[in-house]
Amino acid sequence: MTEPRPAGVPAVIGHRGACGHAPENTLASIHKAAALGVRWVEFDTKLSRDGHVILFHDDKLKRTTGVRGAVADRDLADLQALDAGGWYASAFKGEPVPTLRQAMAVLAGLGLGANVEIKASPGREDETGRMVATLLRDEWPAGLPVPLISSFDPVTLAAARDAAPDIPRALLVFGIPRDWRRRMEDAGCTALHCRHRELTPSRARAVVDAGFPLRCFTVNEPQRAETLYGWGVQAVISDHPDRLPRR
Ligand code: G3P
Ligand code: MG
Repeated sequence: MTEPRPAGVPAVIGHRGACGHAPENTLASIHKAAALGVRWVEFDTKLSRDGHVILFHDDKLKRTTGVRGAVADRDLADLQALDAGGWYASAFKGEPVPTLRQAMAVLAGLGLGANVEIKASPGREDETGRMVATLLRDEWPAGLPVPLISSFDPVTLAAARDAAPDIPRALLVFGIPRDWRRRMEDAGCTALHCRHRELTPSRARAVVDAGFPLRCFTVNEPQRAETLYGWGVQAVISDHPDRLPRR
């Protein structure tokens, strides 16, 4: 394995910021994660129509902003006028959709590391992988740990690798497929992130024994986290990072 690895990924990573406590993928959620004592957060990124990298999970706007339509059909100015917090709780009403640049400034202020998941809108995989990785390469705050890119999509990962080969990448999967190693190598990934529900001790052992960090999402129960750590899982991604044992 010649690919770089992020130094010091902690055992607990906040999911979409800390989305059990604040609206996912907002600056408020990142602030909340820091307030809970988290040292790294995961969040989702995609492109606006006019090519800006924003924090957003779904392809569609409805669930987290209440309006109809697709993210990919809206320009940044339009997206940033939406309310991405009111759906969660009235206390967060008016919380905007952040850009990755805005999130990086907040991370720098809080001293947080990040797992930047790339979730391209359909048909924009190559462009999104390239643009997110380029922004991280060129503007990631000095002084923060090197970020970790992740994606479920091989085209996205390959584009990120080509744009920023020095930024480490993790392959996201639900269950770990039999050909996990080939898939990781194809995308030049140095870590595997899987859904904990499908994980078995033997599959975990195979990945860990091969020397790859294995991390799991989305883990919200302390007992489950302990079990996974016992299987060699290096870190868990959690909506409620405050509930979980730190290592
Ligand atoms: O990166 C781990 C996890 O966030 C992947 O699933 O749908 O929550 O982005 P999702
Ligand atoms: Mg995610």
